Amino acid sequence: MNIVLFGKNGQLGWEFQRSLPLLGNVAALDRGDLDLCDLAAVQKVLREVRPSLIINASAYTDVDGAETKPDMARTINALAPGVMAETARELGAVLVHYSTDYVFDGGAKTPYTEMDPTNPLNMYGKSKLEGEEHVQQAAGAYLILRTSWVYSLRGNSFVNKVLTWARKNSTLRIVDDQVSGPTWARMLAEITVLALAQNQANGYESIRERSGVYHLAGSGFVSRYEWAKQIVANDPRRAEQTVQGVEPVRSAEFPTPATRPLFSALDCSHFQETFDLQLPPWDRTLELAMAG
Ligand SMILES: NC(=O)c1ccc[n+]([C@@H]2O[C@H](COP(=O)([O-])OP(=O)(O)OC[C@H]3O[C@@H](n4cnc5c(N)ncnc54)[C@H](OP(=O)(O)O)[C@@H]3O)[C@@H](O)[C@H]2O)c1
Repeated sequence: MNIVLFGKNGQLGWEFQRSLPLLGNVAALDRGDLDLCDLAAVQKVLREVRPSLIINASAYTDVDGAETKPDMARTINALAPGVMAETARELGAVLVHYSTDYVFDGGAKTPYTEMDPTNPLNMYGKSKLEGEEHVQQAAGAYLILRTSWVYSLRGNSFVNKVLTWARKNSTLRIVDDQVSGPTWARMLAEITVLALAQNQANGYESIRERSGVYHLAGSGFVSRYEWAKQIVANDPRRAEQTVQGVEPVRSAEFPTPATRPLFSALDCSHFQETFDLQLPPWDRTLELAMAG
């Protein structure tokens, strides 16, 4: 089958380039091939390639930047997925789209389920929630996979930032009142491929019957502070570290343009039960990711 992958150079998109060929021929696109702000071009490329599967790994993910560029965030995170979903339905293609734990306000005490009310605190979360709504309204065959704290060992991820800071500073000060589930981009791509592979024989119908919002993230949850400590401990180049200790601080001490939810862990049992797959614990996955 033909597959279109949007966002091939992002954390998740990069990993999809490795695992998607299991399912078919992949046309992988980045910003140079297509700017998602050009909504007509999104529709045109899909009508030309006529894929059976569309993976949207692209997004405007600059959470603070979205506060000053809400229109751009909305176009990329809400309007473009809407066009993908409408065109997918027209072509009889499955759409897999990713959303975020930031659709919640973080006031919960236990992990959020798909039934819990949304209430995004920032423009990024609002734009992603609107994207979910557009995909649902198109009413085709779709999976909206909400995930959290995505990292990879490429680029400017939290893991790489902590590793860099740990080689330059004696103390790291990391917020301990933000809690969620770290999710390795490779695990996210591979679990998605496994879920789709199960249903390949009757792909469109099978996903249409299961269409909806699913939570899909590393199992368990942790504060950013505890996560950073684990990253420092797992560092294979520990001998190069200058860091002596990691200190917990409150989010209020690090004001940012966008307010983040404090507790945004996701309960992933609906995905696990529907697709009969188990999500690995976040800390085992981190160890594996960092072992290279
Ligand atoms: N990162 C997280 O912590 C996190 C948490 C929860 C949910 N998510 C969701 O998970 C999904 C994957 O996130 P990620 O971390 O892999 O994102 P990412 O690394 O920021 O990658 C996003 C990709 O989208 C592309 N893109 C952005 N604007 C574009 C435009 N106008 N035209 C074409 N391409 C454009 C980017 O291209 P450039 O490289 O050229 O900018 C990049 O390749 C997204 O839906 C995100 O909202 C992420």
